[in-house]
Amino acid sequence: MNTLTTRIKLNNGTAIPCLGFGTYKIKDSAEAYNSVRSALEAGYRHIDTAAFYENEKEVGQAINDFINAGNAKREDIFVTSKVWKTEAGYEKTLAAFEKTMERIGLEYLDLYLIHWPASYAFDDDWENTNRSTWKAMTEIYNSGRVKAIGVSNFLTHHLKALMESDVIPAVDQIEINPGFLQEDTVNFCQENGILVEAWSPLGRGKSLDHPVLKELAEKYGRTVAQIILRWEMQHDVVPLPKSVNPSRISENSKVFDFELSDEDMKKIDAIEPYGNSGHSPDQA
Ligand SMILES: NC(=O)c1ccc[n+]([C@@H]2O[C@H](COP(=O)([O-])OP(=O)(O)OC[C@H]3O[C@@H](n4cnc5c(N)ncnc54)[C@H](OP(=O)(O)O)[C@@H]3O)[C@@H](O)[C@H]2O)c1
Repeated sequence: MNTLTTRIKLNNGTAIPCLGFGTYKIKDSAEAYNSVRSALEAGYRHIDTAAFYENEKEVGQAINDFINAGNAKREDIFVTSKVWKTEAGYEKTLAAFEKTMERIGLEYLDLYLIHWPASYAFDDDWENTNRSTWKAMTEIYNSGRVKAIGVSNFLTHHLKALMESDVIPAVDQIEINPGFLQEDTVNFCQENGILVEAWSPLGRGKSLDHPVLKELAEKYGRTVAQIILRWEMQHDVVPLPKSVNPSRISENSKVFDFELSDEDMKKIDAIEPYGNSGHSPDQA
């Protein structure tokens, strides 16, 4: 049986825990610190933050305190951060990484991501902008200060521009929730050895009241959140549920002792879009 510490190998050999903990919109310092602490205490070993979330300092502090109290070793905890879109391009990305490392207070990151691609809506030269951001990412990777690099919100056409690089993205973190599986991108990634992570795996809470999901929750004796996270993991996607509530943090981690049948997976696959954010990487 898999657990919160079960890891999946990325295309460069680094291994990533199969369920992570999200920290977006937890700006309050104490809340950020306490929620990461609760997640680590509940057994999560994979924490997702970003420069844009303005909580890297608290996330790093909670991780360091947990380690220093003898509860885990640094290598047991997988930590991700991301470079924000205003910092696109070679020089700015290198500088943004240094700032992230100062704030987070860790010797290395496990994963560093380009948060959003440069898009043709705002940048005529978007492909080259993404290539030069990626050049900085590969240099950071080659320095050994991050164990793996990847992207976020990259669709197939964005990914294709990076596929000739010496280092292929290890991860693409995209929005996935019921009704919004983004099969084209997921299939491209999975065929090319890029692991997919799901952001807003619960549709920021909007996904939780669908009648099909409620029916399945009753059938399996689980909560709707657990059904959704299980659906994502059975698609070989790594979900990153966020919560500031210790009982929900724990609830979202209890997804390893049941399995959805093929038939029920298909029922969820067939749900029409309803809980997704509407943010498009080509417009953002
Ligand atoms: N790469 C990107 O562009 C991007 C974009 C968005 C998010 N992300 C990452 O993905 C993570 C997750 O996405 P998200 O935070 O947008 O949304 P989410 O995890 O889908 O949903 C979080 C919301 O659901 C509630 N919730 C969590 N567990 C619940 C449960 N068991 N029952 C009922 N409600 C529950 C939370 O409320 P409480 O906190 O009050 O429990 C919160 O309002 C982020 O935190 C971030 O790390 C990345």
